[in-house]
Parts: sequence; C-alpha cells; structure tokens
Amino acid sequence: MKQFKRAAVLALAGALAVGGLSGCSGSAASNGVQIIRIGHNQSTNHPTHTGLLAFEEYIESQLGDKYDIQIFPSELLGSQNEMVQLTQTGAITFCVASNSLLETFSENYTLFNLPYLFSSPEAYHASMDDPDIVGPIFESTMQAGFEAVTWLDAGTRNFYTIDTPINTPADLHGLKIRVQQSPTNVRMMELLGGSATPMGFGDVYTALQAQMLDGAENNELALTENGHGDVCKYYSYTMHQMIPDILIGNLDFMEGLSEEERAIFDEGFEILNQTQRDAWETAVEEAKAYAETEQGVNFIYPDITPFQEAVAPMHEEMLADYPDLAPIYELIQEHNAEYASES
Ligand code: GCU
Repeated sequence: MKQFKRAAVLALAGALAVGGLSGCSGSAASNGVQIIRIGHNQSTNHPTHTGLLAFEEYIESQLGDKYDIQIFPSELLGSQNEMVQLTQTGAITFCVASNSLLETFSENYTLFNLPYLFSSPEAYHASMDDPDIVGPIFESTMQAGFEAVTWLDAGTRNFYTIDTPINTPADLHGLKIRVQQSPTNVRMMELLGGSATPMGFGDVYTALQAQMLDGAENNELALTENGHGDVCKYYSYTMHQMIPDILIGNLDFMEGLSEEERAIFDEGFEILNQTQRDAWETAVEEAKAYAETEQGVNFIYPDITPFQEAVAPMHEEMLADYPDLAPIYELIQEHNAEYASES
C-alpha cells in the first residue's frame, strides 16, 4: 500500500515535471480544461470524500467547460504535511489538512488545537461557523501561500489503546501514544503523563500493529476506516480535543479567479461543508456500532475532569504566548456559555 502510494506520488510529480507545470496550480489539459487536483488522507467512505464529490459535481455543473476537478483520497498524493507543501507551491490546487498541522505554518492555528477549548460539539460548531472567530485565523495563512476556504467536522478526539483501559490520566503513564505532528499535541501528552509519539496518520496502523505504539487518539472513524479498531480494544471518551479539518487552496489560484468564478467556488465550499457535516453524525454512529460488534472494541466513559485539570495550564500558556488571540478566545467562551456541555 505504502509503495503504491509512493508510486502514485512519483507518477504525479513526473506528470507535473513533464508538463513543465510544477509551481503553477492546476494544469491545462489539451482541450483547455484546467485540472484541479484535490488531495486528502481519508478513505472513499469518509464524509470528507462524500463532501468533496458534491463539491466536484457542483463546480463542474457550473464551470465544467473550464475546470476538471480530480479528487485523490487515501494519501495518494502524500501525507498531509506533504500535501500542504504541494498546495503552497501550486503543484496541486487544494488539500484537506488537519488544523493541528497548520499550527506549524501559522501560529494562530494553535488556538483550535487547545485541549478542552470547546465546552460541547454545539459550541465547537457555532464557533467554527462564526466569521469573527475563523476569519482572522483563516486569513493568517495567506503569507504562507495558501488560503483556508472552509472547515470540515472531525468530531471529538479520544484516547484508544491496544490493551489498557484509560479511566484517569494516570492510566496514560508510560504509554507511547501517537499524536499529530504539532507542538500543542506534544505538550498535551506531556501534561497528561503519556509519551507523545508524533507521526503522520498513514503510518499509525502499521505502528500499532507492530506494537511500536500502545495507542493513539482520534475520532471513532479511525477505528473502522483506518483499521485501528482491529488492534486497539479500548476507546475512552476523554473528549480532549475538537480539531477541525480545513480545506486549503493555493493562493495564486484563488486570487486568479474572476469575481463570478469566486462566487461559484464559494458556493461549492458551502456545499462541501454542509454535505460533509450532514454525513458526519451517521458515520460516527455506524463506526461505533461496527467497532463494538465486529471489532470487539470496548467504549469507556471516564470522568473527564482530571484530564481537563491536567491540561488547563495550556490555556494560560497560549494566551501568554499569543496575546493577539485573546479576543478570539473570549468570543469562543461566549459560545461555550451558550452551548454548555450537558454532562
Ligand atoms: C482525523 C482528521 C485528519 C487527521 C487525522 C490524524 O482523521 O480528520 O485530518 O489527519 O485525524 O490524526 O492525523
């Protein structure tokens, strides 16, 4: 699989080089239709892929004589980190990246990676739908060569392990837990007492299977769509993060669109966002049912207070490091108060 992926990346790089098109986003096919490549790291069953298909259908229904949208799932174009860089240079036009990774491209993204930032999924959704909150963050990547155009739901992140039920932070002690490659995630594990092992998403299954890791943390779909539930039998609802995925577009491409085209793309981004979110809840319910009955995963509902307390200093640390983010943090608190957790 991995070799197949690498072969696909090399093939793409080769095609771009032969066409002399590296560095210019979207390649022109012989009929003058521009190819728009979109990469992501999920399976074709995942809500993100479903949303992107709806985006493709809409854009091609409106602008099919000009653009041919091509979607590459399952890390076919490389890891998320690699895809962000391909999007920056314009070798591909769009990719879906976890907000976690974007923190290393623009520090403002650190905010949405904070553990226990949102009091409930409703507060998270309301915050991500609030232009006063996402606007300033999304704009901050322009200097990095890409534009964040919409967000996608990635649920809540929870710990899961091969054979250790996690009921309290003490249960994480000494365990090697895969985290996403971001300083915030490493710090979070440090405070929780586990040993953070940052790595790309596509490498996690093999590392778990080889027992190079004791566990990982993610939403329920990782158990089924990525097979982690075949190896990990304890999934503990610590609800420690709600980290959105972000669709990013090459800046030159986005700025080159005419006003009419931009309006059509904006409508397409809205369709992507809605379709993906509409599919999310059912996908999680189905994943949970499958994991429980077919994979034998045990779901655990611990008291999250000790986990919250352990990582609480990160909020102060972030505000001290990035005081400009304080007003946005305050706006999130308003949504948190409005949609407080029921538990
Ligand atoms: C989720 C998220 C992905 C991310 C992955 C990870 O699946 O949707 O964007 O890459 O977590 O943990 O790396």
